[in-house]
Amino acid sequence: MLLTSLMLPALSRVAVCGGTHGNELSGVYLVHERLKRRKKSQVMEPVAVVTVMSNPRAVQRCVRYTETDLNRCFTHAILSASEQTSYELVRSQELNSLLGPKGSAEAMDLICDLHNTTANMGLCLITYSDSDWICLHICKYLQARAQHPRTDAMEIGPQPHGLIRANIFMAMQEAVQLLLDWVRLFNSGAQFEGGSVDVYTLVKNIDYPRDPHTHTIIAAVHPDLQDRDFCLLHPGDPMFLSFSGETLRYKGKEPLYPFFINESAYYEKAVALSLARRRKVEIPAIRACLHTVRTKT
Ligand SMILES: *[C@@H]1O[C@H](CO)[C@@H](O)[C@H](O)[C@H]1NC(C)=O
Ligand SMILES: *[C@@H]1O[C@H](CO)[C@@H](O)[C@H](O)[C@H]1NC(C)=O
Ligand SMILES: [Zn+2]
Repeated sequence: MLLTSLMLPALSRVAVCGGTHGNELSGVYLVHERLKRRKKSQVMEPVAVVTVMSNPRAVQRCVRYTETDLNRCFTHAILSASEQTSYELVRSQELNSLLGPKGSAEAMDLICDLHNTTANMGLCLITYSDSDWICLHICKYLQARAQHPRTDAMEIGPQPHGLIRANIFMAMQEAVQLLLDWVRLFNSGAQFEGGSVDVYTLVKNIDYPRDPHTHTIIAAVHPDLQDRDFCLLHPGDPMFLSFSGETLRYKGKEPLYPFFINESAYYEKAVALSLARRRKVEIPAIRACLHTVRTKT
């Protein structure tokens, strides 16, 4: 029986980026490795994979960013502004020329931006749409093959910012390899069956409890919640432990899934944890239409 599958354009250009945050070393080392191997072998690939160190100055200093968070600079307003001065604002425009322009026909077909997190989130894919069939098919493919994938840039943890844990680096390397395998299979005309994928959709971010006058943090994540990313949090469950010893509970009406629990880089973003709703997304069977010729200008 021949099932009809949705025909999508082949993915002719793919980017693997690391060091968007300069102290997230899994992606930094992975990009170093790929750049080294590329110099040695120069193998011809069926798909053009561009490897990019996104924020070299932050990587050099092993900090998240030097002046502004690069990962918040890819808005149309910043990308189109003239005369940027801060390093990351200038760098975001360079990356936009290299990988974009964002939203244009010349832009990369797929960007895999590698991050790590101090939260206990396993291997985690973050996409910005629940109808991006390519990303959801890649999630499905990884879920069936990688060791501990979670659906939904690629975040990996727990791993403190500034060091590398071998198991986590290997898991990221394996995931990137599987992603590129998927792209090659897709481009060769393979059909990918439809099905359902579990997706966690952000509902809201929760800040630390703060002193109303000084805005300083007055509680930490509760020990019962720490490391329980993607475990259902029910109304009334402990959420924070105040520095005076009081347990503060989750007051929402609906049970939700916490993630990015106690991510160290998010203290400055006023995020103690994020809450998500889990859904099953039905995805269609897909196949590349191999006759589409893309013209490059
Ligand atoms: C990211 O993970 C790597 C380990 O692979 C570690 O060296 C680095 O410190 C982590 N970065 C952050 C910011 O947690
Ligand atoms: C938050 O995470 C850090 C590691 O990144 C850890 O040292 C700290 O104990 C955690 N906080 C709580 C309240 O568990
Ligand atoms: Zn990051």
